Amino acid sequence: MHNAFFITGTDTDVGKTFVTASLLKAFLDKGHDARAIKPVQTGCELIHGVYQASDILEYKKINANNSFEPAYAFEFPASPHFSAELENTAIDSDVITDYIQGHIEQAEITLIEGAGGLFVPLNGTNTFLDIMKAVRLPVVLVCKNILGMINHTLLSIEMLERSGLTVAALVINGTKPDNGIAQSNIEYLRQRFSGTIIVLPQYAESVSGMIEAADEFHSFVENHTQFFAADEIDLTFDKNHLWHPYTSAISPIKAQPVVFAKENKLHIQNTVLIDGISSWWCMATGFNNERLNKAAQTQMARFSHVMFAGLTHKPAVDLGKKLLEILPEFDRIFYSDSGSVCVEVALKMALQYQHNINKKKTKILTVLGGYHGDTAGAMSVCDPVEGMHFLFKETLAEQIFTPRPPCRFDEEFNPDLCAEYEAAFEEHKDEIAAVIIEPIVQGAGGMWFYHPKFLEFLRNMCDKYGALLIVDEVATGFGRTGKLFAYQYANIVPDIICIGKAITGGFMSFAATLAVQKVVDGISKNGGVFMHGPTFMGNPLACAVAYENICNLQEIDWQKKVKTLETIMKTELAKCKECASVADVRVLGAIGVVEMKEPVNTAALLDFFMEEGVFIRPFEKTIYLMPPFITSRDDCVTLCNAIYKALKLKKY
Ligand SMILES: Cc1ncc(COP(=O)(O)O)c(C=O)c1O
Repeated sequence: MHNAFFITGTDTDVGKTFVTASLLKAFLDKGHDARAIKPVQTGCELIHGVYQASDILEYKKINANNSFEPAYAFEFPASPHFSAELENTAIDSDVITDYIQGHIEQAEITLIEGAGGLFVPLNGTNTFLDIMKAVRLPVVLVCKNILGMINHTLLSIEMLERSGLTVAALVINGTKPDNGIAQSNIEYLRQRFSGTIIVLPQYAESVSGMIEAADEFHSFVENHTQFFAADEIDLTFDKNHLWHPYTSAISPIKAQPVVFAKENKLHIQNTVLIDGISSWWCMATGFNNERLNKAAQTQMARFSHVMFAGLTHKPAVDLGKKLLEILPEFDRIFYSDSGSVCVEVALKMALQYQHNINKKKTKILTVLGGYHGDTAGAMSVCDPVEGMHFLFKETLAEQIFTPRPPCRFDEEFNPDLCAEYEAAFEEHKDEIAAVIIEPIVQGAGGMWFYHPKFLEFLRNMCDKYGALLIVDEVATGFGRTGKLFAYQYANIVPDIICIGKAITGGFMSFAATLAVQKVVDGISKNGGVFMHGPTFMGNPLACAVAYENICNLQEIDWQKKVKTLETIMKTELAKCKECASVADVRVLGAIGVVEMKEPVNTAALLDFFMEEGVFIRPFEKTIYLMPPFITSRDDCVTLCNAIYKALKLKKY
């Protein structure tokens, strides 16, 4: 078992090194294989061309063998970013993280001493707190018992806890006996911090001081394992009592325990996986995005929710303006809680529109191979035969189905193929209230990419037969296909659009249905009001995050990132065509698909992909990638290679 603690301070010069060395002694005293490391050391003396790191010399006083070179050592005693700058170099925080992980694997207990406090800069972007968040170790926070320490200590604790880190102990260093202020500082901190507090008297920073201080740490050392229990997940309970989506309750596919996620990496207990499907396509810009976290935290501190009937708020208005900026053809927005619900809302809008303009049209026309969600109305327009909801067919509203969109995205469009669709419109012209379709990409129904001209044909049919055109962009919206919205590949304006999933960058469930003025006017005629109102409609937290997410997307040059992923997947997945079991390989934007001739063994493939260090979850005949846009070239190649290897080794 490898355990480790990160030792940081409320400020520089509070005695971190003294505490680290004393703690090292306490662990060694209790028979543990312990080591102390200092990843970044400034103020080093250059002797015979080698920097002598002063803090490491202190550890050596406790254990002569404890002599590990820092990852970065600099001569000038200042903030690491500045000391590095003076030597015309820069600190790479990934190097530090790797350095720490490397040490942790080599010892039973590793004590990692930071430099200064949480926001000490390493470079222009990262601080020590980023390192702490990346390695996610319990933290020992050291403060010095002087005037003003309460403020710095509480700020540090607050920030550590908000960063999801455990404060294993607060060490109050240098308490002078019989000093009234020092005693009152301790008393106050005891009221405000309920965790372990270790008070060190005024030990001299000498070996004898460290030896004495080690005694104060002995009970902490005896109980240290409690701080590592937080990440433990009761998988037996999960297996026996929690339902997972589309999964057998009796013999479920193993659910992997995620303990942390950042950017395009899922940290499963003891391994890290490269994410290949953006958590069912919503996590477009990666996990744990600081910008989104901050937006949520700021809004949370004001209020996380209020009802939307008779009340409104800034996040809803700001998001609304942003949505109309990127979808200028639309006029009115209905916020809801999930993709399925925003589809229900769209269908109800269409039905209420037709009802209110006195057209007795109550059916929805759609194509086979579609998927629109799991609620009743949404299920009624999913593929009734091949889709996931065929079991409920008899109980759902009966809709009108036509074949899958006829022409591939990358083929020349043949208008003759539209004849049978036109016949369906003609046959049901008095019934069709609306057409609903996933534009360009049919997602969960098999990742089929069809020609934009088919959308233009549908637009013409809707105009000719007085039906509304609903595009369901829940999966395709926000850049996934290479356009901000997939319908923009065609020269059309839909009447209603459904957006969800990536609207909050995957931060939380949220969706919206937008309508053009014609729809709003129809519904509102003769005093009509739209009859829908979920409790969590317009949730302020979700609105604030969605607003920030769209701003972020606009700033990160997503087009370039999506294009790069498309180019890599086109090259790397093409190799899969050489396997006889592959029916087709296709790539559009940040979506890469290998369609097999037969359904695959999802459980076997999941296991294989785990071994390859990737998270890819195939379904039916489809093995696909929808990586977060921020995925690096190397990680994208690794994802593609994992699929190729699975095919070569026949792991399906
Ligand atoms: C096109 C489409 N519409 C609607 C939904 C339903 O969204 P949710 O799962 O958020 O209810 C999905 C989900 O995959 C989808 O792909």
